[in-house]
Amino acid sequence: MEKLVIEGGHPLVGEVVISGAKNAALPLMAATLLTPGRHCLRNVPDLRDTRTFIRLLEHLGVKSERVGDILYLDTTTLTSVEAPYDLVKTMRASVLVLGPLVARLGRAKVSLPGGCAIGARPIDFHIMGLERLGAICNLDGGYVDANSSGSLQGNVIYFDIPSVTGTENILMAATLATGETVLNNAAKEPEIGNLVDMLVGMGAKIEGRGTDTLTIHGVDELHPADCVVIPDRIEAGTYLIAIVATGGHGTVTHCRPDHLPSLLEKLRMAGVLVTETKDSITVEWPSADKTEMKLKGVDITTMPYPGYPTDLQAQFMALMTQCSDSCVVNETIFENRFMHVAELHRMGANIRIDGHSARVDGCGMGGLKGAPVMATDLRASSSLVIAGLAAAGRTEISRIYHLERGYENLVDKLTKLGAKVWKEDE
Ligand code: EPU
Repeated sequence: MEKLVIEGGHPLVGEVVISGAKNAALPLMAATLLTPGRHCLRNVPDLRDTRTFIRLLEHLGVKSERVGDILYLDTTTLTSVEAPYDLVKTMRASVLVLGPLVARLGRAKVSLPGGCAIGARPIDFHIMGLERLGAICNLDGGYVDANSSGSLQGNVIYFDIPSVTGTENILMAATLATGETVLNNAAKEPEIGNLVDMLVGMGAKIEGRGTDTLTIHGVDELHPADCVVIPDRIEAGTYLIAIVATGGHGTVTHCRPDHLPSLLEKLRMAGVLVTETKDSITVEWPSADKTEMKLKGVDITTMPYPGYPTDLQAQFMALMTQCSDSCVVNETIFENRFMHVAELHRMGANIRIDGHSARVDGCGMGGLKGAPVMATDLRASSSLVIAGLAAAGRTEISRIYHLERGYENLVDKLTKLGAKVWKEDE
């Protein structure tokens, strides 16, 4: 196993190019299962999770070919309807094959993902939604086995909570259902807009893109896709936060500023100068003099889009350890997403957890000290990277396979920004 070593205290300066979004690429890859043919997905990031998803698709009979950032998926012949436990347990997003397989083949057998490091994360909305479309779902031996005799039937569906992958599963399934499906309280994340665009490009009829009510008019057939994955807003946000936390200045390019409204507002409130173009964001401090860099504590509450993203909560908390006063971080999406706090304590952070809230008493810019810490999940890991870059001295982060799930070329990108960071065997 490898660990990440960081010699902290060097300001990050320069430009970083943002990759395609993991959480957009995965549903687009799943959507290719809906119809036979050779599909073309562009700007697909090369990550542990996208590689796992390719393995899952290959297990189902799909043939894949990667040329640079273009992924060709040939879904002409499917040979299995089962997403096995071994693959699902390493990546919950495997559940995204459920909707397309039932819609195309009338059957899908997907291992239940179980809990994970950030919470229980049930898939009851996915199952309820498919049942509303006429599938019969049985839970047996740790699997959900969904069957439909004939095509699915459109229906009205309501989600208690706007689940992102739940919305994606139902969207995909409903494209080939008979009649009209209305999904109320649908999630509105930009990744869902990307999926809608791909499905419409394949011949689906969908209204309400970007709203919480999606209406899908089922069609008899779809054709193969040619679609571009949107830039990763979470990767972009992570680099912006890292640049600010180290007292640096820099620009993230090939990104979508309009997909990060809440983060950019919070950075401005903290005293950071933020400028945007159509596809880039620049952050800088009002003064280049480190003694004058004072970060204001800013509260955040994670919410479904366009609220503050839970996937940027841990990173913002790492930044807030550098503030000169205090703030409160509220996590409302997942019940166990403060695993990074105990690790940040090891670096000298002053954070108290009270239920779903964490009060951060800042130690000022450069106030953390490097330490050995352990990555627990993807975003918690990136918060430790930010803390390590900002801290004085050496930080060693073990279990970095979590980071490799979601950040393409992390070490190279950080090195180009001037970070002193490398991998070592544990
Ligand atoms: N929920 C249920 N029942 C369901 C589905 C969800 O109770 O059937 C609850 C969840 O337990 C959670 C809330 O609803 O409390 C929202 O969960 P959601 O379903 O939206 O999460 P997800 O679709 O499993 C996606 C991202 C996550 C991201 C969340 C929230 C993908 C592949 N994953 O997960 O990304 O945190 O939406 O925005 O799109 C990550 O990239 O690090 C990551 C965890």
